Amino acid sequence: MNVSGVQVRRALPDEWATVRDVRLAALADAPDAFASTLSRELVRTEPQWRSRIRAWPWFLAWRAGVPAGLVAAVPDQPASEPPAATRRGWHLVSMWVSPPARGRGVADLLVGAVLDHAETVGAPRVTLWVALGNARARAFYARMGFTPTGRRQVYPRDGAAALDEEELTRPVRSAAPPRASR
Ligand SMILES: CC(C)(COP(=O)(O)OP(=O)(O)OC[C@H]1O[C@@H](n2cnc3c(N)ncnc32)[C@H](O)[C@@H]1OP(=O)(O)O)[C@@H](O)C(=O)NCCC(=O)NCCS
Repeated sequence: MNVSGVQVRRALPDEWATVRDVRLAALADAPDAFASTLSRELVRTEPQWRSRIRAWPWFLAWRAGVPAGLVAAVPDQPASEPPAATRRGWHLVSMWVSPPARGRGVADLLVGAVLDHAETVGAPRVTLWVALGNARARAFYARMGFTPTGRRQVYPRDGAAALDEEELTRPVRSAAPPRASR
């Protein structure tokens, strides 16, 4: 994958420190965009990060050799279930593009990586939760063909305000606008 000098690829367990650093930067930059919090993720250990990266795919965006974004794809059911269960659907989580890289198609590539992964494992849909107050993310997901499912939730967080969220979804194969349009 390569748009305007940006590469998106799946992170390896040995890249755990990069994934951690980008995730912590995301939580510091946009604390009200995520269910998790900086204080919760700061205390995760190397074995915990490695285990997370092994458990489900994390995709890093690289721009001029510098990490420019992150997204993860989490299956609907526990990883311990048989592979056929992955056909049910995947959640897109931890989506973030660094401020200088925004508006350049990096986010399109990250969503594209999750859609490609879901398609590869035979999942029909990709679903996500977005905060109602996150206008930029909601506009972005709408452009990418995500639509509301009608489900809303107030997600409680330790040490931070609860998040008012809505669920969005799109089929993996869609007639929606192109994923990497820039
Ligand atoms: C959400 C995010 C990944 C999107 O990436 P991006 O590069 O900023 O996205 P784009 O610029 O391609 O698209 C944003 C769209 O919102 C529009 N927009 C920008 N600011 C806006 C605002 N305040 N209100 C409404 N729309 C807005 C842009 O015009 C653009 O629409 P267009 O493509 O039709 O012109 C990125 O902004 C980000 O990392 N935000 C902080 C973390 C976050 O919110 N993550 C999502 C968690 S669910």
